[in-house]
Amino acid sequence: MRTEQPKMIYLKDYQVPDYLIDETHLTFELFEDHTLVHAQLVMRRNPDAGAGLPALVLDGQQLELLELKLDDRVLGAADYQLTDSHLTLQPTQEQFVIDSSVRIHPESNTALEGLYKSSGMFCTQCEAEGFRKITYYLDRPDVMSTFTTTLSAEQHRYPVLLSNGNPIASGSEEGGRHWATWEDPFKKPAYLFALVAGDLWCVEDRFTTMSAREVTLRIYVEPENIDKVQHAMDSLKKSMKWDEEVYGREYDLDIFMIVAVNDFNMGAMENKGLNIFNSSCVLAKAETATDAAHQRVEAVVAHEYFHNWSGNRVTCRDWFQLSLKEGFTVFRDAEFSADMNSRTVKRIEDVAYLRTHQFAEDAGPMAHPVRPDSFMEISNFYTLTVYEKGSEVLRMIHTLLGPQLFRKGSDLYFARHDGQAVTCDDFIKAMEDASGVDLTQFKRWYSQAGTPRLEVSESYDAAANTYRLQLRQSCPATPGQAEKLPFVIPLELALLDAQGRELPLQLVGEDKPVGTSRVLQVTQAEQAFTFVNIAEQPLPSLLRGFSAPVKLSFPYSRDQLMFLMQHDSDGFNRWEAGQQLAVQVLQELIGQHQRGELLVLDPRLVAALRSVLENDSLDQAMVAEMLSLPGEGYLTEISDVADVDAIHAAREFARAQLAEALFEPLWARYQANREVSRNTPYVAESAHFARRSLQNIALSYLMLTGKPQVLAAALEQYEACDNMTERLTALAVLVNSPFEAEKAEALKAFAEHFKDNALVMDQWFSVQAACTLPGGLARVQALMQHPAFTMKNPNKVRALIGAFAGQNLVNFHAADGSGYRFLADQVISLNATNPQIASRQLGPLTRWRKYDASRQALMRAELERILASGELSSDVFEVVSKSLA
Ligand code: ALA
Ligand code: ZN
Repeated sequence: MRTEQPKMIYLKDYQVPDYLIDETHLTFELFEDHTLVHAQLVMRRNPDAGAGLPALVLDGQQLELLELKLDDRVLGAADYQLTDSHLTLQPTQEQFVIDSSVRIHPESNTALEGLYKSSGMFCTQCEAEGFRKITYYLDRPDVMSTFTTTLSAEQHRYPVLLSNGNPIASGSEEGGRHWATWEDPFKKPAYLFALVAGDLWCVEDRFTTMSAREVTLRIYVEPENIDKVQHAMDSLKKSMKWDEEVYGREYDLDIFMIVAVNDFNMGAMENKGLNIFNSSCVLAKAETATDAAHQRVEAVVAHEYFHNWSGNRVTCRDWFQLSLKEGFTVFRDAEFSADMNSRTVKRIEDVAYLRTHQFAEDAGPMAHPVRPDSFMEISNFYTLTVYEKGSEVLRMIHTLLGPQLFRKGSDLYFARHDGQAVTCDDFIKAMEDASGVDLTQFKRWYSQAGTPRLEVSESYDAAANTYRLQLRQSCPATPGQAEKLPFVIPLELALLDAQGRELPLQLVGEDKPVGTSRVLQVTQAEQAFTFVNIAEQPLPSLLRGFSAPVKLSFPYSRDQLMFLMQHDSDGFNRWEAGQQLAVQVLQELIGQHQRGELLVLDPRLVAALRSVLENDSLDQAMVAEMLSLPGEGYLTEISDVADVDAIHAAREFARAQLAEALFEPLWARYQANREVSRNTPYVAESAHFARRSLQNIALSYLMLTGKPQVLAAALEQYEACDNMTERLTALAVLVNSPFEAEKAEALKAFAEHFKDNALVMDQWFSVQAACTLPGGLARVQALMQHPAFTMKNPNKVRALIGAFAGQNLVNFHAADGSGYRFLADQVISLNATNPQIASRQLGPLTRWRKYDASRQALMRAELERILASGELSSDVFEVVSKSLA
C-alpha cells in the first residue's frame, strides 16, 4: 500500500541504466512459513551511461534484508540506505559483485505478484515489476542477465522443482529436502524469471525443429488434471511449426515447459522456457471446456510460445514499449488462429470485441496511446489498447507492406536486435529499412490515442463515368491530447455493380485498372479518390476485413445493406453489413421505446436473416455470426448517452420477434445440427465449432418462444450431450428462461456434478451472473456465499463480479445505484488483497460519462467513496483519480 500519492513516470525521462548485471545466481530455500533468497549479482558500470561511479539503486519491496555483501565484504547498516522500495549503496569499482540474502513470505502473498503459493505449489509472476518482491535487483527490462537458479524444498510436498533454461544438477539433502539447479544461457530481463515447486504431473512430448534439433515439451498440471492437457500440447506443436513456417523462428532451448496454476492474475506468462499459465488457458477437454475455451487455449499457448522471439529474444527497452511485444504477439497469434480455424470468423470475433471494449477504453478516462507516454502503475497498462489496438497497428503495417516485405522486415528486426531491449521505433525502422516504405506519418498510431472517425460520402457522374469518394478523418480529444494530426488509414475497398460483381478499379491518372479490391491510403484530414470508367452507379464495399481500427460511416440505406449482406465477396463485410442493418433497426426500436411508442421491428431485418438461415451454402459459423445481434455493450459504445433500459428492451424485443418469425428455419437448423452432434463424438475442430455455434444460437432464439418442444429440446441437450459447449448453452438458455423448476433443477445438478472442478464452476457462476432477468444483484450476492466461491481466486472474481458488471448491463446499471455500490465494495475489499484485480474490476465504473445525469452522479459517488476509503494501491488510485479528473 502506498503512503503518499504515487508519482507519474514519463517516457521522456527515460535514461539508460547506470549499471548492468551480467550474471545472476539465485538460491531459493522454500519453507512453509518463509523463503530465503540469496542473490549473487555480477555487475559492472554501464559504458553507455557516462563517467564516474554513481550510487547503485536497487529495486526491492517487502523484503527483509538479512545480509548484504559487496565483493565479499559484509556491509553494515552505515554502508547502505534502505527504504520500502529501494536499496542504495556506493560501488567503489567499475566491476563488482553484490551478494544479498533476504527473507520473503510467499505463503501470505495474496497479490499474486512475485513469488506466491497457489493450491499448495510455489510459483511466480514477475511481469511487469514483480521481481523486486523476490530480491534486490535492477528490475527494469533493459537490464538483461544470464540466470542460474537453485531451489531447495521438502521432497515429499514439492517433488517437482523448475526454473528457466536447462536443468544442470539436482540432489537430495538431509531432512527430506531436495534441490535442483537450472541454467538459462540466454540473457533476459528479470520480468522473464520463473520458478515452480510443487506436486505436479506432466505430459511429455517432443518437437523436432527445422534444423533437426530435438526439443522436449512438458506440460505440468495438478495430478487430477492430467487428462485435460492433450489439446494444449497439440496447440503447442502446431504453434512451433507455424512460427518456423510463417516467421522462420526456431525454438532455442532443449526443453520447453508450461505449468498450469489456479490462482493467476493474467492469462499466462511467457517466462523463458517455463511458461506459467492460468489453468483456464491450459486445461481443455470435451466434458469440461467449451469450444470457446478450446480456442482460447490454442490461442494463448501460441501467444506465449511466440513471445519466445517477439518478447524474449528481442524484448522491450522500457514498459512504455509494452506493445512492441504484445501488439506484435497478438497479431501473430491472431494470424495463427486464422490459419488453424476460419479466418473470417476469427476476424469477426476480434473486431466485435475490439469495437465493444477497446473503442470504449479509447473513449474513456484511461484512454492512452498504443505507446503510452506516462503512467503511475504499469500494471494498469496491460490494456486492450496495448494488446488489441497494438495488434491492429501491426496488421495495418502488414497490409501496407504486403506479406513478403512484412516478413523481410520481421527477419531484419529479429536479426538486428536479437539479445537486445528495444523500442517501437526500432521495430518501425526495421520495417522501413527492409521495405523501403516511409512509415513516418504512420507512427502516429503509436503516439495518438483515441479512435479515428472516417466519414465517407460519394458522388457519381454519369456523364463522365466517374465515381468519387470523399473522405474526412478526425479523432476525438483524449486525456492530455486535445488536437490530433491525420493518421495513415489503409482503406481496403471494392465497388459493386447492380449484380454484386466487383468493378475494375482505376483511379484518375492511372493508365489501367489495379484489380477489383484494393487498399487506398488515406493520409489527409480531407481527401478524395476518383475512379474512372465506372459505367453505372456502384455500391462501395468499404473497410474490407476491417483494414483499420476506425469508426467508418457511409450513408447506406437498409436496402443497400441487405444487398451487401448477400453479394459482398468479402465475408467480413457481409457480416458487417448485417451488423449495420441491425444497428439501424435497433436504434429505431430504442427511439420508439424512449418515446413510449409501440415497438415495431423493421421486417427487412427478418427477411435478411431468413435468407441467411435458408442459405445452405454459407459456412455455418458465418450463419451463427450473422444471426448474432450487436451486443448491448456495443450499442452502449455507439450511443452518445446510453439508455441501458431502452437498449435492453429493444434488443430483447428484436430477438423475440425474430424467434417467432423465423421459428421454422431456426428449428430445422437446430434439429439437424443437434442430430449430428448427438451422433458424433466431440471434436475440437473448426467445422465442428461451426455446427455447434449455429445449433446453440438457434436454441437461444428458439427458447424465447417458450414453446414446449423447445423446452424439451433444451432439456434433452442438457442431459444427453457429451460436451460442455452444448451443456453450458442448454444451461444458459434455461437460466434465462421463465421455467423456474427446470432451471433450478439444472443448476443444482450441474453444481453437484462439477463441484470439484473449479474451472467448470467458474462457468456456472458466469452464466448466472450474466442472466439479465430482474434480481441480478441479489443472485450474485447469494452466489458469493456459495462454498465454491472465493475472492482470493482471480478467476472466481472475474466469473462472478466481472461477468455481472461487464455483461449484465441492465442489472448492473440499476437506477438505484445498487450495482455500483456493490462493485465499489468489492473493489475496496480487493484493493487490500490483490490490487491488480481490484483495479481491473473498476472498468465499468470508469465509463460513467456514457450514462444519464442520475447514473453519472451515482457512479461518481462510488468512485469518490473508493478514493476516500483509506490507503489505496497505486493500481486503484491511478484508475479512480483519472476517472474523476
Ligand atoms: N506478458 C503476458 C502476456 O503474454 C502478460 O500477455
Ligand atoms: Zn503477451
